[in-house]
Amino acid sequence: MGMWMVAGNWKMNNLTGEAVALAKDVVSGLPPIAGRGEVVLAPPFTVLKSVFDVIAGTPVALASQNVFFEDKGAFTGEISSAMLRDAGCTYAIIGHSERRKYFHETDENVNLKVKKCLATGLKPIVCVGETDEEREAGITEFVVGIQVKKALAGIPALDKIVIAYEPVWAIGTGKNAAPIEAEEVHHFIRNVLGETHGDASRNVKILYGGSVTADNFGELIAMENINGALVGGASLKSENFLGIISRAMEKNK
Ligand code: 13P
Repeated sequence: MGMWMVAGNWKMNNLTGEAVALAKDVVSGLPPIAGRGEVVLAPPFTVLKSVFDVIAGTPVALASQNVFFEDKGAFTGEISSAMLRDAGCTYAIIGHSERRKYFHETDENVNLKVKKCLATGLKPIVCVGETDEEREAGITEFVVGIQVKKALAGIPALDKIVIAYEPVWAIGTGKNAAPIEAEEVHHFIRNVLGETHGDASRNVKILYGGSVTADNFGELIAMENINGALVGGASLKSENFLGIISRAMEKNK
């Protein structure tokens, strides 16, 4: 049974006091995960350093919610991969559907970001997923297949890559994908990775995201190709987030 990952995407939430308190509660409530799984927190840029100070020396890793693909220079408001490494990040979430929708991120941007992260030692968590209309139109696999292939175009190895399948219609709606429905897409994604990268596809973690809670995650994580979760709303309360982590521990049994 492979290692799982549970990542909390805090989105645009938490000032310093709240962020530090939440990170402390997660660290103090964490079960022994060494050799079993990974727990990742993705706070806003402004509190990365404060959260890093809490998690340093613990098994919890830090992620950013975005990254820019240039190294440095006149890009007002952007944050480079090296800056994120400097702030303590191990991972960067890339291509979240909210960034695609509100900030017009394209598959080409995502690909440039993935490449820059890999070149500078940050591990990408690449988000893909179809909208409600796309699912209704029966083109989920077509859409997700293109997103995966374009994100990873020109990337020789998959060992530093995590994929998060987040159906847009399931994000923040309380309507999680049915486990079998999610598994079908996860299986499809693994097949796409198999086509592009061969056997290395077997070890890639494919996380599910979209209205994950401690109550629904047990059935999701039991699926063969679901290796963890990218959690939004339920990552903002330590008891909910820790509950999801306990469900993930079942994957090791
Ligand atoms: P929710 O868990 O709030 O649906 O958000 C999912 C998500 O977008 C995580 O990146």
